[in-house]
Amino acid sequence: MFQISLFDVMSEFQFSMRHELPEDLPVIEEIQEEAFGPGRFTRTSYRIREAGEVDERLSFVAEVDGVLSGSVRLTPIFIGETDALLLGPLAVRPPFKGMGIGRALMQRAAKAAADAEAKFVLLVGDYEYYAQLGYEQVGEGQITLPGPVDPARLLLLRLKGGVIPCGPVRAVPPTSTAQAE
Ligand SMILES: CC(C)(COP(=O)(O)OP(=O)(O)OC[C@H]1O[C@@H](n2cnc3c(N)ncnc32)[C@H](O)[C@@H]1OP(=O)(O)O)[C@@H](O)C(=O)NCCC(=O)NCCS
Repeated sequence: MFQISLFDVMSEFQFSMRHELPEDLPVIEEIQEEAFGPGRFTRTSYRIREAGEVDERLSFVAEVDGVLSGSVRLTPIFIGETDALLLGPLAVRPPFKGMGIGRALMQRAAKAAADAEAKFVLLVGDYEYYAQLGYEQVGEGQITLPGPVDPARLLLLRLKGGVIPCGPVRAVPPTSTAQAE
């Protein structure tokens, strides 16, 4: 039976979500700067994303009265030989925190990933926040990143169940659109 929760009703009235568009990039960068500061460039997850390409079909922004208020992005990766997605950054502008935007963006991204037949979403973040969204901690050393990461913050969402993959994480290289002339 289809049920609509109070959370869904409030989401509908307070903010909306849509796919990220190329023209959103400057504001998304502002939101990330505001949330993480310049230190974000040295984070291990940032370095993986930089080697790959955000999938705009799986990345979403939230708007409140037309103001871009939050963003979540997904980047295709491999965990060992297994296809997966790296989620992040997730960030919500300070005036809009606590409205459920972060949670709604996470749910939207997870649904899009599942619809795209993805099996796993990996992220580095606070377990206390992401556990409620189905993320679990990965056994230490099972999934390795090309840089330091607190093992307690390495979290995985299994969209279709299955065994947790293992191995090193690397970005799927960007598809080249260059044409020979
Ligand atoms: C984390 C973040 C995305 C949450 O966005 P949001 O829209 O405020 O989140 P929601 O409204 O869906 O959820 C708010 C709830 O999550 C809790 N929460 C927020 N950040 C949390 C964290 N890091 N750890 C545990 N709980 C957290 C809040 O206390 C609040 O709890 P309540 O509902 O019991 O009051 C936002 O605070 C943010 O952009 N932070 C800075 C960037 C960041 O830390 N990104 C995530 C990396 S771990």
